[in-house]
Amino acid sequence: MRKQIVAGNWKMNNDLAQTETLISALKAQKNTTGAEVMIAPTATNLWQAYTSLKDSKIEVIAQNMHFAESGAYTGEISAKMLKSVGVNTVILGHSERREYFNENDALLAQKVNAALANGMRIIFCFGEELADRKSGNEEQVVGNQIKNALFHLEAAAFKNIVLAYEPVWAIGTGETASPEQAQDMHAFIRKSLADKYGNDVANETSILYGGSVKPANAQEIFSKPDVDGGLIGGAALNADDFFAIVNAF
Ligand code: 13P
Repeated sequence: MRKQIVAGNWKMNNDLAQTETLISALKAQKNTTGAEVMIAPTATNLWQAYTSLKDSKIEVIAQNMHFAESGAYTGEISAKMLKSVGVNTVILGHSERREYFNENDALLAQKVNAALANGMRIIFCFGEELADRKSGNEEQVVGNQIKNALFHLEAAAFKNIVLAYEPVWAIGTGETASPEQAQDMHAFIRKSLADKYGNDVANETSILYGGSVKPANAQEIFSKPDVDGGLIGGAALNADDFFAIVNAF
């Protein structure tokens, strides 16, 4: 059975004191489901978050990393550095990284390789823009994003890969893909995996939906057969809302 996962992507929010406050509130919540819960604070607060949560069931993950092991890459963070502060999972390919920091498929393939070489788990994000959907190209765009960054991998690598479909037009906009749109795309993604790697990889790979998931719509989205959880932005900054989403499973 593939895992159900709800991950909170805090983006560039919460300084150290705010991180501590939100983590205390998260620790007071109860997960009444079998879903794995993760939070991705900003890099400066990973160690603090890890220390506070290491005896809990909430995993602390990173929002990004560089592909190199070390060296002259001012401002960057390596897989080894993340692991040294207790972080074993990293989000890669978020649309904000693609849009504002020019991350393309070729660069992301390098990051994917580096994370896997360091034994890390990846939440790999992708998704079409509004213009792609309006012109009916969403499957082609998403198919290419997955193929270009992941399909050079061996099947075994997918044990450490979680996919996250985040339509760009639904991120931070209050717009959500309808549960049917999410299901259709997730089914397409799973079929792409099956065509390339076979049914076992396709059936065992978790595919999360991200884009304005809130307590009010989580249950309907998560009820779809190919939706295995969510990558949550804004609603992850409030402990009650975040756990209402977790407990929507
Ligand atoms: P919102 O939930 O704020 O739309 O953000 C989604 C997202 O980008 C999660 O990575």
